Amino acid sequence: MLPSLRRHGDLLVAYLSPQRSRVLLLAVLLLASIGLELANPQIVRIFIDTAQQGGPAGTLTVAALAFLAVALIQQVVALGSAYAGAVIGWEATNRLRADLMRHCLELDLPFHKSHTPGELIERIDGDVTLLANFFSQFTINILGNALLVGGILVILGRDSAWLGLGLTAYCVATVLALRAVQKRAVLRNATDRQASAEQYGAIEERLTGTEDIRGVGAESWVLWRLLGVMQRRLRTKRSANLAGTLSYFTTKFLYVIAYALGLGLGAFLFERHQITLGTTYLIVFYIGMLAPPLDRIQRQVQDMQQASAGIGRIDALLLTRPNLPAGGTSIVPTGPLSVDLDHVSFSYEDGDSILHDIALSLQPGETLGLLGRTGSGKTTLTRLLARLYDPDAGSIRLHGVDLRDLSEGDLRHRVGMVTQAVLFVRATVRDNLTFFASGYAEGTRDPDILAVFRELDLWEWYQALPDGLDTVLGPGGTGVSAGQSQLLAFARVFLRDPGLVILDEATSRLDPATERYVEHAVDRLLAGRTGIVVAHRLRTVGRVDRIMILEHGRIVEAGRRVDLVRDRESRFNALLRVGLEEVLA
Ligand SMILES: Nc1ncnc2c1ncn2[C@@H]1O[C@H](COP(=O)(O)OP(=O)(O)OP(=O)(O)O)[C@@H](O)[C@H]1O
Ligand SMILES: [Mg+2]
Repeated sequence: MLPSLRRHGDLLVAYLSPQRSRVLLLAVLLLASIGLELANPQIVRIFIDTAQQGGPAGTLTVAALAFLAVALIQQVVALGSAYAGAVIGWEATNRLRADLMRHCLELDLPFHKSHTPGELIERIDGDVTLLANFFSQFTINILGNALLVGGILVILGRDSAWLGLGLTAYCVATVLALRAVQKRAVLRNATDRQASAEQYGAIEERLTGTEDIRGVGAESWVLWRLLGVMQRRLRTKRSANLAGTLSYFTTKFLYVIAYALGLGLGAFLFERHQITLGTTYLIVFYIGMLAPPLDRIQRQVQDMQQASAGIGRIDALLLTRPNLPAGGTSIVPTGPLSVDLDHVSFSYEDGDSILHDIALSLQPGETLGLLGRTGSGKTTLTRLLARLYDPDAGSIRLHGVDLRDLSEGDLRHRVGMVTQAVLFVRATVRDNLTFFASGYAEGTRDPDILAVFRELDLWEWYQALPDGLDTVLGPGGTGVSAGQSQLLAFARVFLRDPGLVILDEATSRLDPATERYVEHAVDRLLAGRTGIVVAHRLRTVGRVDRIMILEHGRIVEAGRRVDLVRDRESRFNALLRVGLEEVLA
């Protein structure tokens, strides 16, 4: 998709208006540098003509000094404009990066399943980086250099109308030729950006899976796959570069022709004494001067080709809307919450129906143990409860409020979920525990965190940390054992004090000591809250009030635990007899 001109303008306005004064400064600097560039040859002409006519030495000295001064100022101005341009470019692109990041975080899980993180990184950073120049210099440079070219044409036209007209025709031809080669380059660049995103995606995916890849000895397969991706990238990059080079040579070629014609014409007029030597110099010099601005315009245009491709892809991302409609504005009271599921059915976007007609009713403070073999839909049900997906049919109500009507903030605040895979980021222990709580300023409420550590038997672990709460955890939580990461995940939920706790118990076995800690922590977590626990351990199941057994996404048994235990015929009883942990773990 190629973005319209108007879209380019909108982006410029949106991201440059916050730094208006800086942009104005840059415009002034660029125009000043162009003005100085135009002025310098005039000084040289005076110098040459004065020298040729044997004029006073004083005039020559002044002209020489003026030439030096102008050249010096020109350098300073160039430096200033480069600096201002870089600042403007970074500021604008950083804003855009942040906007894209926010947008990606708002998109739902199906989107993230179909786009690898590497691919998104390439959009949020790679494509945006291409826009730095577009934001800072593009418009001013194109306009300024067009002005410079125009100035040169006017000056030369005054000396010789023919020369002016000829060169104008030349400039028009150059611009038309550039336009012709430009379009193809934009398309090829877009293809290349896509291939680049795929390459990043492939590398990221393989690196994330290092442990498994090594485990199954898949290194050479991974490298072969990467080779395929890189070969594709080579082809797209080469084709994009060729298209870019074509436009480069088009300008160069046209320039050489103009230079030859200018020299010929200058020599011809000088021979016939129609112009002075100074003017001859001026003509050749100005034609030479046509090259840099035309070259700059051409480079800007080439940059623009890349920027356009980037904008197209950024827009495609921005236009992606989450399938999950935004939440409502209702809120639920503090304290334990009731949960009601009404004929809930669900399938993931690929079609197969996963949950069928699930009904459930939990009083505030009750706990439900969710049992079922692997793949029976337990985790899926917890995802619906946390509204990571909406059910296809039926409704889920939290304390009487349909989840779809609940405000998103309240939902995240009042429903605490611990999944099987706990995420830790490279940040301090404090941040890892509290970043989910909004409005949690750094350095505040440390005593709360410490109290939770005591409560959840993490005190010993905490005391062994070299820098206390400021200790940085590695990415992926390296240095934290499976049991500790469970406990830390509980601590996160604890700090938010939700009214419904959803716990997808880890299937991996822990050593008996840690196991005891985890059990104790689960007790503390569920006390005074409504709980839904995907249970794999006998101990956990022994604590719940109600039991629901799923099979292929259907409820095959549900009821109060004590009743099911009493009923000799119940599946739950059979499960207990065979050994729950053997069947469900
Ligand atoms: N994100 C997804 N997209 C598509 N299908 C999925 C997705 N997650 C799970 N499934 C499918 O949904 C079904 C139920 O999966 P779910 O993860 O809910 O099972 P589970 O009961 O939690 O299993 P386990 O005990 O192994 O954790 C499975 O057939 C699985 O293949
Ligand atoms: Mg699961």
